[in-house]
Amino acid sequence: MKLSKLALLSLALWLATVATFAWFFVRGNTAAGTDDRTAVVLQPIERDLVLGEMRGLLTATHGILQGINVGDMKQVAAAARSAGMGAAVDLNPALMAKLPLSFKELGMTVHHRMDDIAVAAESGKPAPEIMGMLTDTMSSCIACHASWQLQSN
Ligand code: HEC
Repeated sequence: MKLSKLALLSLALWLATVATFAWFFVRGNTAAGTDDRTAVVLQPIERDLVLGEMRGLLTATHGILQGINVGDMKQVAAAARSAGMGAAVDLNPALMAKLPLSFKELGMTVHHRMDDIAVAAESGKPAPEIMGMLTDTMSSCIACHASWQLQSN
């Protein structure tokens, strides 16, 4: 069967579109950073949203530590849950497309681990175990901060 030129052209266009989407999905909207990291370039409002989520992660981490310190596992669970997957669902597709794949993976890892900490606190796991889980979770905070910065356009 001989493909018409038009069919070949539309196939090529389709492949180019798919490749462009795949490229963006993996690479995100990035540029050289002002230090040795790579910058993720977002609209000012999107940058504010991500940084707001970051401050939420810091508040949650503080809440977990404070709960452990006073022996209040309900507080530990509530603080961890506030940074769980439920906190990630509000990110819109346009913003998600600008985030590089490894950025998304590290972000999702932190949200999943926070849910794990909430479950551990609810099921009466001992404080040292929960401290260990938080320590592991924070390696993802550090790994992401070491690789990426945020810039706005
Ligand atoms: C997926 C990547 C990623 C993960 C995971 C991550 N961060 Fe961030 N965070 C960033 C980036 C990027 C910035 C902006 C850094 C810059 O521009 O220099 C940032 C900024 C912040 C800020 C500054 C907020 C502001 O208002 O300026 C805080 C606080 C913060 N992160 C806390 C955390 C904590 C706590 C965790 C883990 C529980 C965490 N982050 C996990 C990427 C991440």
